[in-house]
Amino acid sequence: MTSHSAGPVVAIVPAAGRGVRLGASAPKAFVPVNGVPMVRLAVDGLLASGVVDDVVVVVPEELVETSAQLLPDNVRVVAGGAERIDSVRAGIAAASNAGIYLVHDAARALTPPALIARVVAELRAGRDAVIPALEVADTIKSVDLLGGVTATLNRAELRAVQTPQGFNGDLLRTAYAAVTNDSDITDDAGLVERAGARVRAIAGDPLAFKITTPHDLTVAAALLAATSAGGAG
Ligand code: C5P
Repeated sequence: MTSHSAGPVVAIVPAAGRGVRLGASAPKAFVPVNGVPMVRLAVDGLLASGVVDDVVVVVPEELVETSAQLLPDNVRVVAGGAERIDSVRAGIAAASNAGIYLVHDAARALTPPALIARVVAELRAGRDAVIPALEVADTIKSVDLLGGVTATLNRAELRAVQTPQGFNGDLLRTAYAAVTNDSDITDDAGLVERAGARVRAIAGDPLAFKITTPHDLTVAAALLAATSAGGAG
């Protein structure tokens, strides 16, 4: 463990993906769930957690102005890059004084504020890198290009990883300074693992699922409607 440098808790929300797997014409982060763009829901969750000082949202360059209008006034919006890694790097550059970074996918729009607070509490207790993770219900196999099964993995050792992923500020800045763009790493914790840091997995939350497919969008809309009807935040 390293001691945490002083500085604010900054949440970086990468929302610059152009993926249109949801079938909508807008980039995924801007697809509405019951009328509210995912990126707005994700930012509202971060602000509701009460543990985040600054939020930096990273969007496609041509959407910087539009996005600012969709988001609360105190949220900063910057342009992202071609790969997710470039977008997170742009977010880090916009808030280079952070004591703690949270990196949180816009697509995990229903993430409970309590989960965000738990990640920050672990970092404040001295951990360097903290990720929410869920046990997997399915058996996971690796397969080759033709679908031939090459291995059956031990499910008890596997976790499905969510966001927000939280990091000591110095650790994430150092990991990003060392990264190359040919990296096949798909999350930020993977970068700090490669830099030799210990990453702690804590219990995730099913509501922090990533909205990726039309099925996910239907589920998210139903869950959000049920929450609103119950008057809960
Ligand atoms: O494509 P995937 O679902 O893995 O993207 C995860 C998050 O990273 C999304 O919120 C997406 O908008 C963001 N992203 C980004 N810049 C990219 C690619 C993805 O900010 N170039």
